[in-house]
Amino acid sequence: MTRILVVDDEANVQRLLQYTLKQAGYTVVVAGDGQEALKLWQSEQPGLILLDVSLPKLDGYGVAERIRNDEGGRNHVPIIMLTSEKEVEQKVRGLRAGADDYLVKPFHQAELLARMKGLLSRFGSADAASRARPPLGKMIAFYGAKGGVGATTISINTAIALRTELDRKVVLVDAVLQFGDHRVFLDLGNDRKSITDLTTAPQVDADLLKNVLVKHDSGVDLLLAPTSPEEADLVNPENLAATLAMLRTMYDYVIVDVDKRLGDLTLSILDHADEVHIVMTADLSCLKNVRLVLEALRRIGFDPKRLKLALNRSNAFTGISVGAAESALKREFETKITNEYRVAISAQNTGSPFAYSKPDAPLSQEIVELAQAIDAVFAPQAAGAAPGAPARLGAGAAR
Ligand SMILES: Nc1ncnc2c1ncn2[C@@H]1O[C@H](COP(=O)(O)OP(=O)(O)OP(=O)(O)O)[C@@H](O)[C@H]1O
Ligand SMILES: [Mg+2]
Repeated sequence: MTRILVVDDEANVQRLLQYTLKQAGYTVVVAGDGQEALKLWQSEQPGLILLDVSLPKLDGYGVAERIRNDEGGRNHVPIIMLTSEKEVEQKVRGLRAGADDYLVKPFHQAELLARMKGLLSRFGSADAASRARPPLGKMIAFYGAKGGVGATTISINTAIALRTELDRKVVLVDAVLQFGDHRVFLDLGNDRKSITDLTTAPQVDADLLKNVLVKHDSGVDLLLAPTSPEEADLVNPENLAATLAMLRTMYDYVIVDVDKRLGDLTLSILDHADEVHIVMTADLSCLKNVRLVLEALRRIGFDPKRLKLALNRSNAFTGISVGAAESALKREFETKITNEYRVAISAQNTGSPFAYSKPDAPLSQEIVELAQAIDAVFAPQAAGAAPGAPARLGAGAAR
């Protein structure tokens, strides 16, 4: 039974949390101030801490900081900060102090339990071996040649395949800042943190980032887009570049779903990416746009070897055959993904990507092949078995 440390100075909050947690099957220890919290953290070794911000003796920020300091990166007890202050600044302060999540009081019991469950499974199942080897640090961008061609579908599912089939450490970034779709595709509410939670911080570091990333059940970490288009303006190209650079030091693959608009922000991502996959369908406007994008990338000196063309819905009738599209572009498609409307749309509607919920579907297998092709470029040694990583390459194809 997991032991939860509740730290709150109000007797009624203590009682309520104690009751809720016991009902849910946890054992509970209670501290009424910051000093006592630190003592109980040491003596009781709780599996998770619910930590109020305003406490006598030592406040919640102080407690979180002390714990993280003493842990020294060797352990990590999940901490959920309970705050009555709604300001973003306070949230960031809690996250910087080392909290993993925060809840604004008053909160719903079900939400508390769900967040706790997420954190417990995340920190309980950390894979020590794969954390020990240095990350590959490669950035792979997916760019849709026009709206609705499947850039989001392919980037999300490729990220999942790299994680589940190739055992890579993967973060997926929704860089479609105004109209990002990942919350819809992955069934995540607007309460989940986004990239704008980083913008109020003077400096982005790994600790702050870890607290803003959202964990998907597949094991892929997510950096989500803001929930409203206005908020997107808070993120500038420098912010984003710094964030992506930091993510590369933490993950094997940083998979980025990029915006179609070729502004500074997108160009800077494409420029820094190790591979750019242009997703398209075989129709005239895509052919025109792909030519324009290839030209724009050539102008910024982008190495053509890093560029891949992915033809989505390759067997759908568009009046233009694969061969005709290839000869119009004077190059071959590196990737072809077939048209499977039912699988794609039902994954989207249920918020469970097909690579995760239907790994055996042909569409998922094609995505696994794409993931394998990516991994073969960046982790070619011993067919992708980097030191310490289980050799699971080809697991998908073998099925
Ligand atoms: N291979 C496929 N077969 C059938 N349907 C697909 C396939 N790939 C994507 N789709 C469907 O196409 C639609 C658009 O996909 P998606 O949102 O991934 O495209 P996008 O390029 O990211 O679009 P946007 O311009 O809105 O960002 C979705 O309904 C998706 O389910
Ligand atoms: Mg999209």
